[in-house]
Amino acid sequence: MTIVRQALGLDIGGTGIKAAVVDLERGELVSERVRLSTPQPATPEAVLETVISIQRQLPLCRVVGCGFPGTFRHGKVIAAPNLDPSWIGRDVKAELRRGLDRKSVSVGNDADAAGLAEMRLGAGRRVAGTVVVVTLGTGIGTAVFRNGALLPGTELGHLELGGQEAELVASARARKDHNWSWERWSRNVGRYLTRLEYLLGVDLFIIGGGASKKGDKFLPHLEDVGCKVVVARMGNLAGIIGAALLVAEKR
Ligand code: BGC
Repeated sequence: MTIVRQALGLDIGGTGIKAAVVDLERGELVSERVRLSTPQPATPEAVLETVISIQRQLPLCRVVGCGFPGTFRHGKVIAAPNLDPSWIGRDVKAELRRGLDRKSVSVGNDADAAGLAEMRLGAGRRVAGTVVVVTLGTGIGTAVFRNGALLPGTELGHLELGGQEAELVASARARKDHNWSWERWSRNVGRYLTRLEYLLGVDLFIIGGGASKKGDKFLPHLEDVGCKVVVARMGNLAGIIGAALLVAEKR
């Protein structure tokens, strides 16, 4: 049995596709990080072409882990709201195996991947109780952990908040699209987190995704949330590192 020490971590997002080679033990990048814009429309063919071009810019890895912004049933995409609808029914693992010419490809939800990285090596390390990692980016992704164990595939970004999907009013994209001030947007994020806290009995929220870089702008406005809220220790890199960690999880 060969021990896998490094993997290509691939974080497919609605706005950007990011990747790097990751040391699986240390959870650290051992190559540069490459980011290309997500093609529009983000059809499977166009996204795969972008992924292949990213792979070419990095040292070749035997194994690949990929965080994908959607949900699966029996390996097939059932929803990917921030990509082209033609992804529905596609087998991401099979597409990547073929496109990247790699036999060993692991795939999981992007927020679950970022959550794994933060729980294993970041802000959630050794934290017991209910921890929810919320990625605020193009959409809202969630990863729910109970005493360190992941409940995979939660989609709490689509919870209704004041008659609208939370993702449409509390994602990082919503702030930009509406040109809201940080304070105005934080009010929505606060309402959203308070609701999750009430429904799930959350002990700690870890905020990842694009917004994690700007914690100082919104964390001070979340004083109504009853539990602790911190930003992802790995920031937006949690997505890449977590994607690589999916390899060890055998997804
Ligand atoms: C998708 C999730 C994803 C999140 C962040 C949502 O629109 O439904 O699966 O985790 O966006 O990319």
